[in-house]
Amino acid sequence: MIKIVETRDYNDMSRKAANVISAQVILKPDSVLGLATGSTPVGCYQTLVHWCEKGDLDFSKVRTVNLDEYQGLEKWHDQSYYYFMRENLFKYVNINLDNTNIPDGSNPDAEAECARYHELIESMGGIDLQLLGIGNNGHIGFNEPADVFADKTHKVELAESTIDANARFFKDRDEVPRFAYTMGIGEIMSAKKILIIASGKAKAPIIREMIKGPVTPKVPASILRFHPDVTLIADVDALSLLNKE
Ligand code: PGA
Repeated sequence: MIKIVETRDYNDMSRKAANVISAQVILKPDSVLGLATGSTPVGCYQTLVHWCEKGDLDFSKVRTVNLDEYQGLEKWHDQSYYYFMRENLFKYVNINLDNTNIPDGSNPDAEAECARYHELIESMGGIDLQLLGIGNNGHIGFNEPADVFADKTHKVELAESTIDANARFFKDRDEVPRFAYTMGIGEIMSAKKILIIASGKAKAPIIREMIKGPVTPKVPASILRFHPDVTLIADVDALSLLNKE
C-alpha cells in the first residue's frame, strides 16, 4: 500500500518532500540517500539547500547514490546528471563529494560500470531512503516499460517517449543520448524507505495507473505497491484522476 500525501501545489510538494528527507538525515546523520534528477526534485533540493544554509541540516556524514546517468555524456556536459546534482544540490550543502555516487556515463564498458555500481550500493549497506520521480510512461530511474523487471544496475535504451520528454533540455532532439545506466528495480525495491514525488496534470494519468492499474513491468512504478514503506507526495493536479472511474 502506497501512502499518499496530497499537497496544494509544486512548492508545497517540494517542502513536504524536503521535510521527509530532512527527518531522515536528522534521525540518522550517516544515512544513505538514493537521489533522483529531473525537474520534479529541483524545488525539494532548493529547500534542503536553504535549511542547510540556515544550519538546520547537516549533510557532512550523508552518503548518496543517484539512480541513473546518460551513457556517453562526459561528467561536465551541462545535461549530465553528475552536473545536475552538482548544480542543484551538492555545490550548496556541506556534503563530502567523495560520499556522492552516480553511475559513470563516460565509461563505455557497460558491464563493468553496472557491476561496479551494484557492488557499491551493496558495500554501502543498501539505501535508507530512495527519492523517485516518475516518467510520463511510468519509468522510475531509467527503468523503461519492459517485459520483465530488471534487478540490478544495467544499461537501457531510452524509450522514444523519454527522449521526447527530455529533448526540452537539449538544443536538438538528436543530441539526447539514446542509452543510459540505471539502478535496477531490485535495487530500488531494496531501499528501506521510498519517497516518490509528482506534480502537474501531465502526471495524473500515470499516477492513476501506478496506484490503480495492474502491477506490471509495462508500468515500472507499479511495483512500488509491493514495497512495505512507500510514500507518494503529489500535488492536487497529479492526483486529479485518482478517484475518477
Ligand atoms: P521529471 O522527470 O521530474 O522531469 O518530470 C521524471 C522522471 O523522468 O523520472
